[in-house]
Amino acid sequence: MDWGMKNRMAQLIQPDGRCFFLPIDHGYFQGPTSCLERPGETIGPLLPYCDALFVTRGVLRAAVDPAKAKPIILRVSGGTSIIGNDLAHEALTTSIEEILRLNAAAVGVSIFVGSDYEHESLINLADLVNQCEDFGIPVMAVTAVGKELEKRDARYLGLCCRIAAELGARVVKTYWCKDFEKVVAGCPVPVVMAGGPKCDTELEVLEFVHDGLQRGAIGINLGRNVWQNPHPVAMIRALRGVIHENLAAKEAYDLFRSLRRGKK
Ligand code: 5RP
Repeated sequence: MDWGMKNRMAQLIQPDGRCFFLPIDHGYFQGPTSCLERPGETIGPLLPYCDALFVTRGVLRAAVDPAKAKPIILRVSGGTSIIGNDLAHEALTTSIEEILRLNAAAVGVSIFVGSDYEHESLINLADLVNQCEDFGIPVMAVTAVGKELEKRDARYLGLCCRIAAELGARVVKTYWCKDFEKVVAGCPVPVVMAGGPKCDTELEVLEFVHDGLQRGAIGINLGRNVWQNPHPVAMIRALRGVIHENLAAKEAYDLFRSLRRGKK
């Protein structure tokens, strides 16, 4: 691995081997997602507690202060919407020149394994890897399920993660699921977990994150369960405790409750 690639990977994965990415890219197909209508305001108090921000170029330019930013993972696939025919019908949206101009630490692209657009999305990943490897930019593959959330089991996600790694992704983002160690075991590159739609309780989120880490994930790329929480700073700090301070889920929940009482 060349110096540039190593340096970018080190910006993302911290010295303890763990990472906490904060995604705010949801608008690229959902529009003004709840609590992300004004992304600059949403992320202001949260930025100190994450390791990197997952964002499109549009929101990056409009809402993220370049003097105060965290390492940027640029979302570079899109071209669909929640009211369109098929969320899987994505293309690459961002040129390599733009990726370099924006000084991205990494880029993210969705793959839709098993969908009608499986082939196109996998070729998007392969094409992006071909372009980015020349410049030492890591590609994070996002194993997307579109609207079919029930697809999230170890067999399916394990298949998606392995294919992403085989095509050259340096990091794979997938969903937590039961028997998560099976997903990790079949994937030769680091795996991070997304959060998915907002869970009913904070403890539920802290428990699945803790479980996934015990089973081999290196961290999270988790958005809605942070910034849609009524106490987002308390929630991000509790999650950070699980990721970087080895807190158990219950300990992190106690931290959440004490921070919430202090209205942080
Ligand atoms: C949306 C994404 C998100 O980055 C990913 O789903 C993580 O966010 P959340 O925790 O809200 O699911 O890829 O396009």
